[in-house]
Amino acid sequence: MLPQNSPLSLLQRPRRLRASPALRNIVRETRLASSDFILPLFVSEKITTRVPVTSMPGVFQLPETEIVSEALAAHQDGVCAVLLFGIPATKDEVASEAYNDNGIVQRAVRSIKTAIPDLIVITDVCLCEFMSHGHCGVTHFDGERAHVTNDLSVSLLAKTALSHARAGADIVAPSDMMDGRIGAMRATLDSHGFEHTPILSYAAKFASAFYGPFRDAAESAPQAGDRRSYQMDAANGNEALREVALDIEQGADMVMIKPGLPYLDIVWRVKERFGLPTVVYHVSGEYSMLKAAAKNGWIDEKACLMESMIAFRRAGADLIITYAAREIARSLREAS
Ligand code: PBG
Repeated sequence: MLPQNSPLSLLQRPRRLRASPALRNIVRETRLASSDFILPLFVSEKITTRVPVTSMPGVFQLPETEIVSEALAAHQDGVCAVLLFGIPATKDEVASEAYNDNGIVQRAVRSIKTAIPDLIVITDVCLCEFMSHGHCGVTHFDGERAHVTNDLSVSLLAKTALSHARAGADIVAPSDMMDGRIGAMRATLDSHGFEHTPILSYAAKFASAFYGPFRDAAESAPQAGDRRSYQMDAANGNEALREVALDIEQGADMVMIKPGLPYLDIVWRVKERFGLPTVVYHVSGEYSMLKAAAKNGWIDEKACLMESMIAFRRAGADLIITYAAREIARSLREAS
């Protein structure tokens, strides 16, 4: 600490660069662009009109007949990419609808890509929405305990990814957290002529309580047991780096950290260590908390939302998956 009367104490005055909006603007280190955002969309085979997801204001389950108009409206707002989740009419013990070439996700991908070729369509590759029990793999139960079989699940996941690629998905995004799924998917895609379809791996996906509202939206809550035997323990940062390294070795082109704000340390470490396109998922619970506090008048919704997005980018995220992507794209457009 310099003595108050030393002339040196005046040399460094960080406030000089904060004196006006124009000065702050030219020294700002991190900026947002609408191309940074990915919007999740839920398409359901079970409905004919849109159904609001109560715990996620502004989010809807969409019938197949509305998926293209919704994707188009998002695209017109400035959203460049969507992440598609499907809710099938029938579920079983082997997730048959997940890899049905004429399943709900596959049909939705085909219609979006036909209508809006420029919109990037990413598909979530998982089995939980398609399994009668809601787990992300083939499961047998021992009372309340769920045992998820790894390798059999991986072969079904690889079939699912292939089926999405065949339907025209631009990127496939496995979110199951089985071991070895990226390598298996890469091999299956390559041997069927899809060597150019990128894989965005949910590489460091934590077993998180923040997914609660999503499971209402995707109707994918496990009926018994939990996901702790396959998703990561919230306490483990080094293990997250090992998971990411394994997925990259197996061919992941982009990697994801999920959830978002509580895991910014992981985002930073992954980006610093690997330098791959790094994606963060601002998950349902994070979105719902913002909406709920704003509804009560406790926070400034837009300011808190934008500050959260800046935090992701500052931590190293290249892309952000968020349910607020449309409102963010619109407000970036208004600001420019
Ligand atoms: C499916 C999946 C989940 C999310 C994305 N893909 C739920 C889960 O693992 O239970 C969560 C997304 C969110 O909370 O917004 N495996």
